[in-house]
Amino acid sequence: MNPRHFISLLDLTSDEFRGLIHRAIELKNNRDPSYQPLKGQVLAMIFEKSSTRTRISFEAGMSHFGGNALFLSPRDTQLGRGEPLHDSAKVISSMVDCIMLRTDKHETVTTFAKYSSVPVINGLTDEQHPCQLLADMQTYFELRGDIKGKTVTWVGDGNNMCHSYIHAATILDFTLHVASPAGYMPNAEIVKAAGERVKFFESPIAAAQQSDLIVTDVWASMGQEDEQKQREIVFKDYQVNAEVMQVANKDALFMHCLPAHRGEEVSSDVIDGSQSVIFPEAENRLHAQKALLEFLLSKK
Ligand code: CP
Ligand code: NVA
Repeated sequence: MNPRHFISLLDLTSDEFRGLIHRAIELKNNRDPSYQPLKGQVLAMIFEKSSTRTRISFEAGMSHFGGNALFLSPRDTQLGRGEPLHDSAKVISSMVDCIMLRTDKHETVTTFAKYSSVPVINGLTDEQHPCQLLADMQTYFELRGDIKGKTVTWVGDGNNMCHSYIHAATILDFTLHVASPAGYMPNAEIVKAAGERVKFFESPIAAAQQSDLIVTDVWASMGQEDEQKQREIVFKDYQVNAEVMQVANKDALFMHCLPAHRGEEVSSDVIDGSQSVIFPEAENRLHAQKALLEFLLSKK
C-alpha cells in the first residue's frame, strides 16, 4: 500500500484540513505528557536549507509524542555526495517511520516520495511551504474562527508561501488578494487551478481593502541571496506598513512565517504592533505538525 504523504496542501480534503486545525488547537490546549501515540517511532529530517522553526517544532513534536527525530544534512550524508535520490529514499524509509524534507527543488520531494515506503512531509521547497499554512490557518481559526468566506491579502513575492496560500484559499474557501510586482507573480498554473479565488491588485493598498488577514514574506528567499539588492529596488513599494493595515478591516490580523526583515517587507510598527500574531503563528508550527504527525502515523 502506498503511504500517505504531505507534499502539498492539495493532498488534503477540506474536511481533513479543518480536522487537523481543530486537532492542533485541542493538542495545544490540553497537553497530556502521557499521551505518546508515536512511542518508538522515528522521523528522519533532511534539511538542504537552514531552519529554526521547522526543525525545532518537528523535533519537539516527536519528543512529546514519545518518538525520536533525526536531523540529517546533505553535507553529512551520502545525499550530498550524489547518492541517487531513489536509493536514498528506499534505504532511509526502510529504517524510519516518516521522512521530512526541506529542499531547494520541489521535484526532490516528489521524487523522494515516489520511492519512500513511509510518509514524506514537505518541510519547504522552492514551490510550496504547506506546514507553515497549517500553523497560519490554526492561528486564524483560534483568533477569529473559520476562514471560509474571508479575504486574505498576500503582499510581495509570488513565492513558496504565496503558492501555499493559494492552495489554502482553494481548500478552505477564502478569497486571496495578491499584490506582487511584475515578474514576481505566483506560478501561472497554480493561479489558474485556483480559479476565481485569487484576485490580483496593482498595489498593497488596493489589495488590502476589506481584508481580514494581511500576510507577507521576505523579498529574497533562501537561495536568492545574490538577488537581494536588486529585489530591494523591485519590491520597495511592496511593504506592509501602517497605511496598508489602515485600509484593511479593523480586526484584521498580520502574519509572517518568519524570519522577517523589519524595514523591508514589513515595517517594525506593524510586525511588532497589536494586529501582528507572528509569535502564536510560530508556536503553532509545533501544535499543527503534531496533529499532522498523528494523522499520518498513529493509525498505521
Ligand atoms: N517559517 C519557517 O519555516 O521557519 P524556519 O525556516 O526557521 O524553519
Ligand atoms: N520564502 C521563504 C520562507 C522561509 C520560511 C524562503 O523560502 O526562504
